[in-house]
Amino acid sequence: MLYRQILRTCVLAANKSVVKCNARAGNNVIAAKHSLGSCRSCTSNASSSCPTIGEIVEKWSRRFENEAVPEPIESIEHILAHVVGFKKLLDVTNFRDKRLTNDQLDQLESLCQCRLSRMPVQYIIGEWDFRDITLKLVPPIFIPRPETEILVDIVLKRLKSSRKNDQEIMEVGCGSGAISLALAHSSNQAKYLAIDTSPYACDLTRVNCSQLGLQERLTIVQATLEEDGTVKPSDTFNAQEHIDFETRTFDYIVSNPPYVPIKDLLKLEPEIKIFEDLRALDGGEDGLKIIKPLLKYSAKALKPGGHLFIEVDPGHPEYISFFVKKYDTLKLRYEHTYKDYCNNDRFVEISKIP
Ligand SMILES: C[S@@+](CC[C@H](N)C(=O)[O-])C[C@H]1O[C@@H](n2cnc3c(N)ncnc32)[C@H](O)[C@@H]1O
Repeated sequence: MLYRQILRTCVLAANKSVVKCNARAGNNVIAAKHSLGSCRSCTSNASSSCPTIGEIVEKWSRRFENEAVPEPIESIEHILAHVVGFKKLLDVTNFRDKRLTNDQLDQLESLCQCRLSRMPVQYIIGEWDFRDITLKLVPPIFIPRPETEILVDIVLKRLKSSRKNDQEIMEVGCGSGAISLALAHSSNQAKYLAIDTSPYACDLTRVNCSQLGLQERLTIVQATLEEDGTVKPSDTFNAQEHIDFETRTFDYIVSNPPYVPIKDLLKLEPEIKIFEDLRALDGGEDGLKIIKPLLKYSAKALKPGGHLFIEVDPGHPEYISFFVKKYDTLKLRYEHTYKDYCNNDRFVEISKIP
């Protein structure tokens, strides 16, 4: 109950701050990141009684550290950059002697309170960079993790080594749209279809898609990958989209599915447990709750010679390799395991035997 109250208060405070930024930047969150030199509101009305950027970093990083908030310096630097409207995080260091206005100070204090309650910085500032794109982020939609950028690199490498210019790629579980949008932004060799069981995730992907101007290349459908390996569109599905999930096939399927074994969910940091939708992480007893249906679906939906790329728990590659060998009627071949930044087995590539 208490956590729900914290969440509500923080979401309201963060929303208020994003709304202010939107208003300032003509409703464009990305454009709201502007440099100090070009932002009047950052330099005017600065009160000599207000602390400098350097003093604020000092005060709040110490407070965060004392209250065991992870990444104390990065936290205050990101919040400051957001409140002041810096384009680059480095400007927090470059403009240490600048003073905040009273309004900025008020806003900063309330956002720092959110951080003290362990709200992720990404939700506090309402956006985050993923590869070369900036995504709007709203709780409780899953925050894209840095290692997932490797998954995008793996798919892009495959895509670029192919000569086809009309590839079809499907993403299962798009969240904020990070994977599909980063792919579409980097390669125009394909058309994309992204599904998610959550209507809120689909809405956020749509917002991010139109901010990036990629509507022509990405179709977003609220649909659920069922246990039996079928994909069921939601009741609100617009039949005009003409997508028949029974027969439609793809060159590539990519997914960062929920894969955390249920016993590990409670060990996660408060940032995740309180603020993110745990259904985006919950992989059931063994973490394979969505991965098994994904393998079954891919066996039907991949074109011969097509590829499936999945982000997994390091304990999964061995099982997935065993699964595709055991169920050889699926005609799937285990191709490769890739490592993440910490040298863990994190990504799996599977192909459809022609
Ligand atoms: C770990 S998040 C990944 C989000 C995004 N792809 C990323 O990497 O940032 C998993 C996503 O899968 C969605 N999801 C969970 N179960 C699903 C299902 N059965 N069918 C479709 N999507 C599902 C969740 O709503 C969530 O958005």
